[in-house]
Amino acid sequence: MKIDVGIGDIARWEDEVVVVNLFEGVAHPGGATGAVDTAIGHQITAMIATGDLTGKFKEVAVLPSFDRIPGNRVMVVGLGKRDDFTLDRVREVSATAAVKIRDMGLRTFATIVHGAGVGDLDLGDAAEAVVEGTLLGLYRYTEHKTENDKKKIESVTVVNMDKARAGALRDAVHRASVVATMANFARDLINAPSNAKTPRLLADRVRDAAKETGAKLTVFDEKQLEKMAFGCLLGVAKGSVEPPRFLMLEYQGGGKSRPIVFVGKGITFDSGGIALKPLEAPGGGGMWLMRDDMGGAAVALCAVLAAARLKMPRNVVALAPLTENMPSGSAQKPGDIVRSFGGKTVEVINPDAEGRLVLADALGYAKTLKPQAVVDLATLTGAMTVALGKHAAGLFSTDPTLAGRIARAAEATSERVWPFPLWDEYAEQIKSDFADVKNSGGRAAGSITAAKFLQRFAEGMAWAHLDIAGTAWVEGGPDSPNKDYLPKGASGYGVRLLVRLLRDWDTAR
Ligand code: BES
Ligand code: MN
Ligand code: ZN
Repeated sequence: MKIDVGIGDIARWEDEVVVVNLFEGVAHPGGATGAVDTAIGHQITAMIATGDLTGKFKEVAVLPSFDRIPGNRVMVVGLGKRDDFTLDRVREVSATAAVKIRDMGLRTFATIVHGAGVGDLDLGDAAEAVVEGTLLGLYRYTEHKTENDKKKIESVTVVNMDKARAGALRDAVHRASVVATMANFARDLINAPSNAKTPRLLADRVRDAAKETGAKLTVFDEKQLEKMAFGCLLGVAKGSVEPPRFLMLEYQGGGKSRPIVFVGKGITFDSGGIALKPLEAPGGGGMWLMRDDMGGAAVALCAVLAAARLKMPRNVVALAPLTENMPSGSAQKPGDIVRSFGGKTVEVINPDAEGRLVLADALGYAKTLKPQAVVDLATLTGAMTVALGKHAAGLFSTDPTLAGRIARAAEATSERVWPFPLWDEYAEQIKSDFADVKNSGGRAAGSITAAKFLQRFAEGMAWAHLDIAGTAWVEGGPDSPNKDYLPKGASGYGVRLLVRLLRDWDTAR
């Protein structure tokens, strides 16, 4: 699908659909909607007058243009009440409109920039939201469907009158389409079944994706990991016939500055190991969903790919420890003790608490890169979903500046985070009688004790941890976010947030 920018009056656009908008309670729309209304003989005001069009949030009306304008149809999408208006609603209605047009079997549309100029909303920010909403909303995972739905949007044009802002609009559209495309690539990786994304296959896909982006991928295989003494990652990998991989994706756009490092949990399938998970989980989902347990890795890698494709002036590295967690005669057993990259020993109380193990090695490795900051992302604990549901990731950090930056990026992208404490009392739960630390602290405050475990391996670095167990996947139930730009399956949560973090790094303090 291609996305273009158009400068001029949308009433003169030649497309299958021309998309305008309406706030609730407006009887006589102005701006682009007003211009189109006038051009098509005041059909929009007539429908408002009869009550057939109200501007309610996500309401959609399609009107014929009777050849009064070059576009074949006009779609009016409801923005809701002006008081309830947010930038995220721009993403939502953009997705609503795009999906509706696709469902109608149409292939091209032109849209105005919903929300530009409303309150203090800038054209660029609004345009980014329109493009993000459109691309994220139209996403489908069809890789393994042989009976493909032929409906497909081929071209979208984002239209604005103001010639003086053409450059800003082009930049915004470009930036958003790169970021959304990378979020969708993360979704592709996360949605993929585990038999199509073993550590080796995943490394191949990332290698292909990194080509010609300016980012450099290094893949460490099991022999190298043995030499490097990644004992925790190798311990988790022992139960699988698939060998582990450790990916390092580097992008250098920031001269000599110390890198910002993203670390992602990359369990390509989490069966629970010897602590085998049940096939059906009590709260929905089930073991099949544990293919999303590499979501942190996918997001970290895709954020770096986006930074590279946008040629951002930053040095960024993604680290992704990849392995399956499987039960077998060679699997690690409860009570086993493994030695992490940095030398600390870990008692494996529960083989199902494998995420923190592979992250321990990766965080230790991150330290060798002398980062200015490290952010790890992990589908780490079921307890996270118990605490926050699926509407926010837990934010754990020892560095208030970094936490503040993340909170602001989360605000801008509507990929919500919520802070949790890291009080030392919680560390009591992961004290081990036989090793330096144990990998499970029991049920109480399960997400916090997991973060306390990670903290031990992040000592000496400005570090933050995002537990994305609840946000990585959209199931579609009443506990899921109901947004048209978040179709069922992998959400890609975190790619937009991380890219925004990089973008605002120098300004947000
Ligand atoms: N990948 C899971 C966490 C998870 C569970 C994410 C459900 C999404 C949905 C993680 O590896 C895990 O199994 N965690 C255990 C930790 C426990 C053994 C200390 C958990 O949450 O039960
Ligand atoms: Mn597990
Ligand atoms: Zn896991």
